[in-house]
Amino acid sequence: MPKKYITTPIYYVNDSPHIGHAYTTLVADVLARYYKTKGNDVYLLTGTDEHGAKIQRAALNFGNQKSFSSRVRIEGKIKSQKSDKELIQEFTDKISQEFKDAWELLDINYDQFIRTTDPAHEKVVGEFLTTVKEAGYIYEGDYEGLYCVGCEEYKKEDELEDGSCPIHKKPVKKIKERVWFFKLSAFQDKILELIESGKSKIFPETRKNEVVSFLKSGLEDIAMSRSKVEWGIPLPWDKTQTVYVWVDALINYYSAPVIAGKDIFPPDVQFMAKDILRFHAVIFPALLLSIGLVPTKQIVSHGFFTINGHKMSKSLGNTIAPKELVDTFGVDGARYLLLSQFPFGSDGDFSLEKLEVSYNAQLANNLGNLVQRVLVMIQKNDINITPTQNPPRDPGADTLIEQFQFDRALDEIFKLVQNANIQIDREKPWEFQDKISKSKNQNDREKIKNELDKILTSLFRQLETIAVSLTPFMPTTAQKILDQLKSGNPEPLFPKIIS
Ligand code: MSP
Repeated sequence: MPKKYITTPIYYVNDSPHIGHAYTTLVADVLARYYKTKGNDVYLLTGTDEHGAKIQRAALNFGNQKSFSSRVRIEGKIKSQKSDKELIQEFTDKISQEFKDAWELLDINYDQFIRTTDPAHEKVVGEFLTTVKEAGYIYEGDYEGLYCVGCEEYKKEDELEDGSCPIHKKPVKKIKERVWFFKLSAFQDKILELIESGKSKIFPETRKNEVVSFLKSGLEDIAMSRSKVEWGIPLPWDKTQTVYVWVDALINYYSAPVIAGKDIFPPDVQFMAKDILRFHAVIFPALLLSIGLVPTKQIVSHGFFTINGHKMSKSLGNTIAPKELVDTFGVDGARYLLLSQFPFGSDGDFSLEKLEVSYNAQLANNLGNLVQRVLVMIQKNDINITPTQNPPRDPGADTLIEQFQFDRALDEIFKLVQNANIQIDREKPWEFQDKISKSKNQNDREKIKNELDKILTSLFRQLETIAVSLTPFMPTTAQKILDQLKSGNPEPLFPKIIS
């Protein structure tokens, strides 16, 4: 079976995990689980992005506030017992672990978790960039520009709003430095050709068009090192400079399989939100092409979760932690709700009230009740049904998953649930016992009993298909349904939430 190397962005450790990060990781997990059930050789990579000015600043702020106790007064001045580097590393260890914990909580089945401060990654980055330099695509020069530390990116004048970054709403800084450049401009035509020929796909189409017009407007070379950022990987050929954090981070998709000894490069599917599409669709392929590697096959970009119209982020102080959802709705409840609220690809505003309505309607009433009703009736009527070895999946839902329409795939499966409930209401199997006892003729009784068997067997088979189709989305629930179909003992799946 073909390999499927699937990646999520590696998340900045200046911020604790929130449901925006969780969303990307979850869709990657669903696709990975889906291809695993199909027998593909799947490899899911996630991790944390731990270098750069932004992390350094967040870590030292935190360290200075928190570890007052670990700091001592020497001659009236507060001095740390730990070096800045130790404080920053401690901080990145802590937040990176928070991401691991969040993914465990959400039942994310990743194969590798990469951290960019892992010396093994740092070594591969050094080797990678040395090869790029030897190939003639790195040169020294002066850079002057307007820098947003939040984005870790130079901005153009016309991208700003009142002198501030439009995403972070903070003023940009004028920076002039002697740095090393990567000849991004050399790859414009090649990348355009890869995208237009479909060898490197970008989903959805609107995002692809954005990238194409960006490429057509002309690429400028980028500064691939920084002279004043200490928290980074030193350039192998110039130790006074560190690798630009985005270049360091993008190389993770290459370094991870090298470190793990897996022969799976290039990525088959890379997930991210629209904010970081250009880095993945332009800079990453150029870096790969510069040393003769094949770029990613498919980039998939989705929208932002907003809270009252604002992007969720630490700097805006409006984040929701995955744990908040799991505490209220359970793991699979949280997974369902994250995926089903709005179409994959577009932005969506999050409202906790809407989540509760959706949980009660779809999970507690629609799905939970269906399983309960069917199993209770099978038990009551003492009907023996042998579970299917490999129940068929819903082909419509499968196609939608392969097209990254995760919300629509869920809708499709929940339509099956709804139809089964409608069938029960229409055929009223609970009236059959009464009909049997009222009927005088043995033949009639058998006929009615057979009819009842047929209805309940059909519902049983529908539940099997619903369960296996739900497996990538709600793995524990799907397994519980299959187990209950085997044992015949109904157990509540989703307690109703009354607030
Ligand atoms: N560290 C970089 C990525 C480097 S990848 C080589 C970064 N990190 S981040 O922590 O800011 O995470 C960005 C990604 O997290 C987004 O592209 C998106 O996938 C996800 N999201 C973060 N906030 C989000 C929302 N509010 N809504 C949806 N997804 C969001 O950028």
